[in-house]
Amino acid sequence: MNPVTIGLIGLGTVGTGVARLLTEHPDRLARRAGRPFRWKWAVVRDPAKARGVALEGVQVTTDVGQLLDDPEVEVVIETMGGTDPALGYVLAALAAGKHVVTANKALLAEHGAEVFARARAAGRAVAFEGSVGGGIPIVQALGVALAANQVQSLAAIVNGTCNFILTRMTEEGLPYEEALRQAQQLGYAEADPTLDVDGTDTAHKLAILAQLAFEADVRLEVIPRQGIDRLQLADLKYAGELGYVIKLLALAKLSAAGLELRVAPTLVRRGTPLAEVRGPYNAIRVVGDAVGDTLFYGRGAGAMPTASAVIADLIDVATGRAGLPSRSRTLWSESAPPVCLTPPSQIQSRYHLRFTIADRPGVLAQLAQILGDHGISIASVIQHDPGDDAPADSPVPLVIMTHHAIQADLHAALEEIDRLGVVHAPSVCLGVED
Ligand code: NAP
Ligand code: HSE
Repeated sequence: MNPVTIGLIGLGTVGTGVARLLTEHPDRLARRAGRPFRWKWAVVRDPAKARGVALEGVQVTTDVGQLLDDPEVEVVIETMGGTDPALGYVLAALAAGKHVVTANKALLAEHGAEVFARARAAGRAVAFEGSVGGGIPIVQALGVALAANQVQSLAAIVNGTCNFILTRMTEEGLPYEEALRQAQQLGYAEADPTLDVDGTDTAHKLAILAQLAFEADVRLEVIPRQGIDRLQLADLKYAGELGYVIKLLALAKLSAAGLELRVAPTLVRRGTPLAEVRGPYNAIRVVGDAVGDTLFYGRGAGAMPTASAVIADLIDVATGRAGLPSRSRTLWSESAPPVCLTPPSQIQSRYHLRFTIADRPGVLAQLAQILGDHGISIASVIQHDPGDDAPADSPVPLVIMTHHAIQADLHAALEEIDRLGVVHAPSVCLGVED
């Protein structure tokens, strides 16, 4: 039978996983796709680099033009990452009449409208299951299986690197830098790991989830985002004392006030499903109006889990299934109504606050007064005795858990508190998801 000829751009962590599935299980994949696959091209930066996969019959090149100009290539798999030159390569592939499979969340989050406009014009599919949640079929779930629902909320752990780091720090007290180094060695981190730890990668994935769940074209700049790079071990310990773990969450909530979106380290109560997601695993909790509460769980990063999603897309493209959701759902459509974001005056949460204050009479009362003046009620307080040996007036941490408070009020209160002379460092504020 006529094979599906493939060109692969990028043969790093994910590309190598894709290559392994293609070369080690050709019969299984051919059975599922109804046609065999022929891997013809691999585009890389350094053709001399050892890849650890069988490359018989594969032409390795640094010149993407060879792949794009090859009329035999039906599907381009883009696993190189970044937006430049990836965007140009993907647009050129579509213009040349090739379908595209990509795991590149930065590309879709930042240029989804351009990519899908070109795909629709060319009548070609863009499949992107590997871009969110690694091996978890969340794109398929939101785009197809839950299509009857209006999604009401999403709460997601979608960065394996950050979840790995937070797990190691919480459970083993590992320093942040060492945990990050291990995540990089294991192939979880982006080429530039800043994108993982500063929350950008999670925001990219939230933008894609928002497109699938709410048909909302959300610009990256409008997603408030905070990473794990400024968290201290102390924050994880205080959260633990209160019965919580800290997770980097992507949150989306739809209400009459609008769509609330946020990426932030968040306290999650121990014993709840998201709190139990450890290491590089991801989980996405989706609440739909018909289906109710659902949870999708699996390995969110790494070569083989992501390759599992990429190859599933490839099979969907080969069978013609991938074209349907990408065209009929009009993803990243120019005619979609503008997104109405929930204003901070309508956002409510409980908050975990850490202050660094002078250990003097009346300081706690001053902070409580300001919080009270802004209508914020205190649920619990932790201040450990620094001991008799501590130098007089040395700064100490004070941790406050609030009852539900309005975000705008909280921010106003924190601005006021941070201006006090008895406050020695900017306050740390984390949301709580119970
Ligand atoms: P990676 O290990 O850094 O691999 C990138 C590959 O692309 C390398 O083979 C590199 O070639 C090639 N490449 C980069 N720039 C190129 C250029 N200008 N021209 C030609 N080739 C170029 O990255 P990765 O971790 O596999 O990630 C790839 C994509 O998958 C990214 O979009 C990432 O966000 C996404 N993703 C990654 C994971 C994961 O767990 N790692 C999971 C889901 C999605 P050389 O090898 O010659 O340098
Ligand atoms: N760097 C990403 C992560 C890869 O750690 O989750 C998976 O998208």
